[in-house]
Amino acid sequence: MKIPFNRPARVGAEIEHIRDAIHRAKLSGDGRYTAACQAEISRLAGGGNCLLTHSCTAALEMSMLLIDLVPGDEVILPSFTFVSTANAVVLRGATPVFIDIRPDTLNLDERAVEEAISSRTRAIVAVHYAGLPAEMDVLNAAADRHGLVVVEDAAQAIGATYRGRSAGSLGAMAAFSFHETKNVISGEGGALVVNDPRFVDRAEIVREKGTNRRQFLRGAVDKYTWVDIGSSYLPSELVAAYLYGQFEQFDAIQQDRMQTWTRYAEALGGLEALGFGLPHCPDHCTHNGHIFYLIAPTAVLRDRLIAAMKADGIDTPFHYVPLHDAPFGRKVGRSIGDLAVTDDISSRLLRLPLYFGAGEDAERVIERVWHHARLLAG
Ligand SMILES: Cc1ncc(COP(=O)(O)O)c(C=O)c1O
Repeated sequence: MKIPFNRPARVGAEIEHIRDAIHRAKLSGDGRYTAACQAEISRLAGGGNCLLTHSCTAALEMSMLLIDLVPGDEVILPSFTFVSTANAVVLRGATPVFIDIRPDTLNLDERAVEEAISSRTRAIVAVHYAGLPAEMDVLNAAADRHGLVVVEDAAQAIGATYRGRSAGSLGAMAAFSFHETKNVISGEGGALVVNDPRFVDRAEIVREKGTNRRQFLRGAVDKYTWVDIGSSYLPSELVAAYLYGQFEQFDAIQQDRMQTWTRYAEALGGLEALGFGLPHCPDHCTHNGHIFYLIAPTAVLRDRLIAAMKADGIDTPFHYVPLHDAPFGRKVGRSIGDLAVTDDISSRLLRLPLYFGAGEDAERVIERVWHHARLLAG
């Protein structure tokens, strides 16, 4: 029996909600399910103003539109991230400035930020890798000193906390993902949470193709028109209906993932004696059990372990191919230092299957990882 890396879960009333949305004959965006999801996300993310989007990619693009990036502007971000973090910058004609990550949390290294700041820097994007928040107090202090905007790429981080505060409440804006690989899903999906009041009104407009349609629907203006730059970032009510079914089971989903994550951590902790690295969560943070990764002792051993697991029918993919060294990243970006940690980690990291209801599968994964790790590294 094959064990995939991810199984998109249906956990509750998703189908009933979709049926209900169809019955209500309201399928475009911003109906009752969108509103219900936004209220839930806002609650989980510390109370900011939430706008549902069709992806985290869209939410990141909105954030870069909202800060009015222009060609020549620079945005600091880790090289060890998904392409959407950087594309949002490049789509505005601006320059992504890649910095290294910390070897312990794999989040952007806040100590590298000062050196990366230039007269053109406008923003820092803090990726909360594996659902573990970056060092936000340090990043916000640097941003305050230099008049920069901090955006959280919280794609993976719903429900995580930093010094008791929720992911999504830690920057001026935060982008979440509900892609089918995330903890809470709708196939494709996302949200932008806006905390800084400067961006709240415009965020609505940018999401509605640059029109003030939302104000019109609220009765705040008597006709709606084109008032700003924007695009179509709303998801359909069908997508929101599925997502709402997931949010109704949010605690059960998080608990289940954390159980599998903790089981991996306990059962595989002994791999450290064979030279493997395991995830580390600082005391002042909580993560959300989004990713369980291993860092193999060498790149060769990582590739062999992935191949051996694949031969057993178990998918344990690596990521990310560093953006600073990707063909397009080299063309449009700028790097600070040699990004040695990024290069090293991305050559040695693999992720274990982790999804809602992974329990039994995880036991087999643990057994096979030990088997191969002993042969390869013992
Ligand atoms: C860190 C990060 N940012 C952005 C994204 C993009 O999310 P989406 O697929 O919802 O556009 C992802 C997706 O995996 C991600 O991991």
